[in-house]
Amino acid sequence: MAQLSEEMKAPSGEVVVKDLDERTVLRDPIQQFQAWYRDSMSSAMIHPDAMALATVSPDGRPSARIVLLKRADEKGFVFYTNYESRKAGEIARNSFAAVVFYWGELQRQVRIEGSLTRISAEESDEYFSSRPRESQISALSSPQSRVIPSRAELERLFGENERRFRDQPVPRPRNWGGYILKPSRFEFWQGGRRDCTTASSTCSKKTAPGRSGGWRRRGVPPVFAICTSTALGPKDLPLH
Ligand SMILES: Cc1cc2nc3c(=O)[nH]c(=O)nc-3n(C[C@H](O)[C@H](O)[C@H](O)COP(=O)(O)O)c2cc1C
Repeated sequence: MAQLSEEMKAPSGEVVVKDLDERTVLRDPIQQFQAWYRDSMSSAMIHPDAMALATVSPDGRPSARIVLLKRADEKGFVFYTNYESRKAGEIARNSFAAVVFYWGELQRQVRIEGSLTRISAEESDEYFSSRPRESQISALSSPQSRVIPSRAELERLFGENERRFRDQPVPRPRNWGGYILKPSRFEFWQGGRRDCTTASSTCSKKTAPGRSGGWRRRGVPPVFAICTSTALGPKDLPLH
């Protein structure tokens, strides 16, 4: 597990909030996220991998829930769920989504917006087979987002599947797998500064169709940097 960066440890051992400004923020927001994620994993927080995922219903109503981040790299942000859940139904109709991480002990928030697609069946299989057997049986037995008559019914399904797959590998249910969020906008927020209450850095992908994308920022006080997309044009992007 990664260590907290040196700047974040006071001699007393207490965590000191690192500054976020144009000199310290990394150019690549994915690398910036990974650095902060490593810090959060090294802290005593329960579930630093938890993120609030917001999707939108067909009639334009947002809905949000916590899911766990399983992979974050230049390809995107991966989580796993039930493909027949409410969120999956919403994603099928509108792939745009937003996630938010809040790492309270470090006074940090990261907001990411982008679009979701399913990952390959092979990647889902690989991850599913790495999970504890109990989690595999649970995934097989829980009809997510659906009303079930009773807790006893859930336990009956669990027991049935335990017996069915005794002494053999549990197959990944066809309705369970991963999504990847391909990011187009990031905001990094750091609280606890002495001179002003917060600092944040926002950037968006400058991907024109058919061109490889980069990230661009510009300054908007008190948000010291904001990035725009060449595909959208600065006037189309909200500044807050
Ligand atoms: C700490 C925590 C972690 C969770 N992780 C996941 C997860 O990785 N995948 C998932 O589908 N649901 C996860 N859940 C449950 C979801 O928040 C949600 O209740 C469920 O997915 C149904 O959401 P939906 O009806 O909007 O589809 C988690 C809940 C908590 C509190």
